[in-house]
Amino acid sequence: MLCLGIESSCDETALALVQSGKLVHEVVASQADVHALFGGVVPEIASREHYRKLGPLFDSLLEQAGVAPQQLEVVAAARGPGLLGGLIAGMSFAKALALGTGARFVGVNHLHAHLVAPGLEKELRFPALGLLISGGHTQLYRLESALKLELLGRTLDDAAGEAFDKVARMLRLPYPGGKYIDVLGRQAQPDPDVFPWPYVDNQNLDFSFSGLKTAVSVYLEDKPELRPELAYDPEELARQPEAYPALARLCASFNYSVAQTLRVKVRRALAACPQVKSLIVAGGVAANSLIRETMQTLAEEHGMEVRLPRPSLCTDNGAMVAYAGWLLAKAGYHHPFDVDAIPRGRKIPWDYLS
Ligand code: KG4
Ligand code: ZN
Repeated sequence: MLCLGIESSCDETALALVQSGKLVHEVVASQADVHALFGGVVPEIASREHYRKLGPLFDSLLEQAGVAPQQLEVVAAARGPGLLGGLIAGMSFAKALALGTGARFVGVNHLHAHLVAPGLEKELRFPALGLLISGGHTQLYRLESALKLELLGRTLDDAAGEAFDKVARMLRLPYPGGKYIDVLGRQAQPDPDVFPWPYVDNQNLDFSFSGLKTAVSVYLEDKPELRPELAYDPEELARQPEAYPALARLCASFNYSVAQTLRVKVRRALAACPQVKSLIVAGGVAANSLIRETMQTLAEEHGMEVRLPRPSLCTDNGAMVAYAGWLLAKAGYHHPFDVDAIPRGRKIPWDYLS
């Protein structure tokens, strides 16, 4: 079964083909440079860029893969949560294509797609514990199977990626800043006492990162040397990350605090779900090297397998949408054409037809 996946929920327009659970080909157009000028994603610009890029990307994907539109059996598009305009652009394109080719249409929950993405690399083992850490979400799930998920905990305020990006902004690092904090943090040892591990002194599986962001802001108040007038040049930072030792130490300490907070909550979730056989870490922040190491060690301590997708499968991509769409279609699910896109903050219903 050949499935096209379309991702357009934020600032990447990404399309991919999955056949029999394997990635055939993928194409992506990132808008990061466009939004970098504003220091964050501008929704209206994002929608227009998706609308502009979808057609040409689709043509080049099919040409590079040597596939004709009539061969598509399933067309899947991210349905939400995300920025509404971008989701509508992707879903409209997918619906028109399905209508024109006779393929089945499947709306995919973007968070579900992140969580099952590592299944593209190697078969997933269930039940699994899923830690989803992205720019918009920080959640813990118990996955009974690839299609049966139960939410165990979520962030009460900022998502982990949002905390990375907001702290990066305070430090005048380029947008999106998570990866620069990662790169710089690798150049120094963390000071474990500078920042708190937020919201761990409780019994629950929820997260709260806004206090950590405030702690960084307070720490920076009397350190003007860490808040330069001019923003850093991304190429210069990437070329010589070792040239900024004080900044590197701050990044290492912040990174450490996020990684330890996640470790505490994941360990607690593993204790609450003793039958779990594997740990899945997904979403853009799962590309973070310290968080990867920390989760690897935690899984080893529990004698279980950890699934850390390659970084390009962690950040938003079309392959995960195509794969989730393929899984759903294989199980007999699809959507009618009147299904809606769903913005951030609203629950995505399980309303597939079968
Ligand atoms: O999953 P994703 O691509 O988009 C959403 O669905 O939100 O996640 C984007 C987030 C951004 O906040 C970005 O800064 C963060 O992932 N990110 C990282 C790293 N790479 C991406 N955060 C920390 N370390 C990284 N290496
Ligand atoms: Zn995402």
